[in-house]
Amino acid sequence: MKPAVEILTDADELASRAAQLVLDHSLKSTSSKETFSIGLSGGSTPKTLYQLLADPDEDFRNRFPWGHTHFFWTDERHVGPDSPDSNYRMAYDAMLARVQVPQANIHRVFGELKNAERAATDYEKELKKFLGQSPTLDLVLLGMGADGHTASIFPGSEVLNEREQLVAAPWVDKLNSYRITMTLPILNNANAVLFLVSGKEKAEMLSQVLRGTRNQYPVEAIQPTNGSLSWLVDSAAASEL
Ligand code: 6PG
Repeated sequence: MKPAVEILTDADELASRAAQLVLDHSLKSTSSKETFSIGLSGGSTPKTLYQLLADPDEDFRNRFPWGHTHFFWTDERHVGPDSPDSNYRMAYDAMLARVQVPQANIHRVFGELKNAERAATDYEKELKKFLGQSPTLDLVLLGMGADGHTASIFPGSEVLNEREQLVAAPWVDKLNSYRITMTLPILNNANAVLFLVSGKEKAEMLSQVLRGTRNQYPVEAIQPTNGSLSWLVDSAAASEL
């Protein structure tokens, strides 16, 4: 299925468009069933989106079904929730701390656990406890690195071949650290995947990936089985398309 690609002028317009799409998915989901489950991405690109959704001056906040939404993370760094590197903390400070969300609806990765593999298996249990044995997230947000990684699935990572485990704890040489990441089986089982890509440094990789030349970059392995696949990119990232 050819992904939908939308080019927005800049990072702010991208965040605003993303907020509208996230709101649309949340209302569609909660109109047909009680809950909306979202996989939040980390890194820097989604921060403005999270701030917008919780912004008291924006319409998104009043319309968003916070009480019916369950928040998960597509990946986490091997750090505690108070670390400046924590994806949980970024989303918490930018959004969750500013709105009424039941604590039980916030499903963070315990990145502080010394044993990263344990953090991964615990998170898989949490996902299955809430979403069933074959978890289907309603919406997954993803970013893309200039090297073609997504979530914490990096080029050449053994995680690319993982077909059983839903959450893995790969060692990432270039980061000299473990990461805890959702794997392809759960990411591709989502009802909708939305990539947010911003910045000139991503342009070369984005043009390769969207040209579909299949260079086996992890980002190209995101092919939802039954769900939709969309890209929101800003003009800087789209400068080589
Ligand atoms: C992370 C992310 C990662 C991110 C990309 C893009 O934990 O860092 O989940 O996959 O989405 O690295 O990061 P930027 O948005 O900061 O460019």
